[in-house]
Amino acid sequence: MNRSGRVRIAELCANPPADNTVVTVNGWVRANRAGKHHSFITLNDGSTLAGLQLVLNAEQFPDYPSLCRITTGTALRATGVVVATPDGQQPIELQLTELIVVGESDPTYPLQKKRHSFEYLREIAHLRPRTNTFGAVFRVRSAMAQAIHHFFATRGFLYVTTPIITANDCEGAGELFRVTTLAPTSSAPVSEDFFAAPTGLTVSGQLEGELFAQAFSDIYTFGPTFRAENSNTARHAAEFWMIEPEMAFADLHDDASLAEAFVRELLDHALTHLPDDMAFFDRMVAPGLCDRLLKVSQTPFERIDYSDAIRLLERAPVNFTYPVSWGVDLQTEHERYLCEQVVGGPVFVLNYPRAIKAFYMRDNDDGKTVAAMDLLVPGVGELIGGSQREERLDRLDQKLASAGIDPRALWWYRDSRRWGSTPHAGFGLGFERFLMYLTGMENIRDVIPFPRTPRHAEF
Ligand code: 4AD
Ligand code: MG
Repeated sequence: MNRSGRVRIAELCANPPADNTVVTVNGWVRANRAGKHHSFITLNDGSTLAGLQLVLNAEQFPDYPSLCRITTGTALRATGVVVATPDGQQPIELQLTELIVVGESDPTYPLQKKRHSFEYLREIAHLRPRTNTFGAVFRVRSAMAQAIHHFFATRGFLYVTTPIITANDCEGAGELFRVTTLAPTSSAPVSEDFFAAPTGLTVSGQLEGELFAQAFSDIYTFGPTFRAENSNTARHAAEFWMIEPEMAFADLHDDASLAEAFVRELLDHALTHLPDDMAFFDRMVAPGLCDRLLKVSQTPFERIDYSDAIRLLERAPVNFTYPVSWGVDLQTEHERYLCEQVVGGPVFVLNYPRAIKAFYMRDNDDGKTVAAMDLLVPGVGELIGGSQREERLDRLDQKLASAGIDPRALWWYRDSRRWGSTPHAGFGLGFERFLMYLTGMENIRDVIPFPRTPRHAEF
């Protein structure tokens, strides 16, 4: 079957053709209300939240009784004349002249009219894109990926794809998934493995991104990221997507300014260009969402020092599960308290203790902290992690040594500090965390098409 002449429902609703225009649509049945003389079929093709109403007139279809039995989930190709429906949910409906059942659906189709829980829909992740919520989630995901490329393109950032298979553990947290072609039972030395070196799936493209920033000034990556951390939370996935910009000739405050512009512009983009899907989330998932995000998009973000954040947490009238004192890493409960209770919006926490941060972050002059930043947002906690990088080779070598990293393994990274090293900075934004913040969806499993989490790699 060819697709010629087919129009998308989004296009029909956005620019309704004149009455009596003949159009053809393809899609899947969401509902069929059949009567003696007429059937009303709601058809959805994924291009928009809205379904298009198809009207079947019994007199025009000799096989009307069998068409009445078309069930939810059936794939149809429908041709009909456009009729304006000023009082309807959609601007138009189609009075059908021709109807082809492309793919039948039997009554065991799991997506019936009632509302299903997100937990249940995760078990049928192959079908959930056909629901209103997941239709909206994945349209927004697609549009935001394009908006992200646009944001950087208009600022002259080079898009660089960094390796997925790598021999470096950028974050030093030992969360690499191993990549090997040796049999699990093999006792062969690593020299016989495919790469003749221990390799894994990347936890971050940052180190390679830094190399490109030292040539192209401003770059970003946007790619899949893998972490074998065994945390079964609503905010962690073993496979997620990260956007990592890196700027040469830039310090921590330039970094925070870029991160702020990035988040605020993306929110604005979603509210402006995806009004129907955003209104859906506001209505069905997180009441007040659009007003909240609009305000965030229009208001400068707060910035506080880690040391001040600790003082605020120590004074908080809350019993945290993890006790707080200078030197501890912030847990999600602390992060959420800071942005939800103290600030009431996004907040940058700057200058964390050196001991809890990765080797590449630049030492501050106080001898205790590094030029690190996290952006915390309500509902999610850490949305962005970034830093100014240690560009001084002698300091970098000290930091590698104290992190127990063999400098020979990162000889190329060290080289970037030898010839024309510049102050530089960057950050990583977790795409799924951003989508959670944007849509109000509360579980990371519900903003990625096929989630990978401990013991879950189905689909
Ligand atoms: O804070 P992280 O670990 O920072 C880095 O990887 C740096 N190399 C980034 C850089 O400076 N270029 O991770 C960055 C962001 C986090 O703030 C979070 O949004 C997301 O990545 N993230 C995760 N998202 C989903 N599941 C996980 N397991 C995540 N781990 C981190
Ligand atoms: Mg982090």
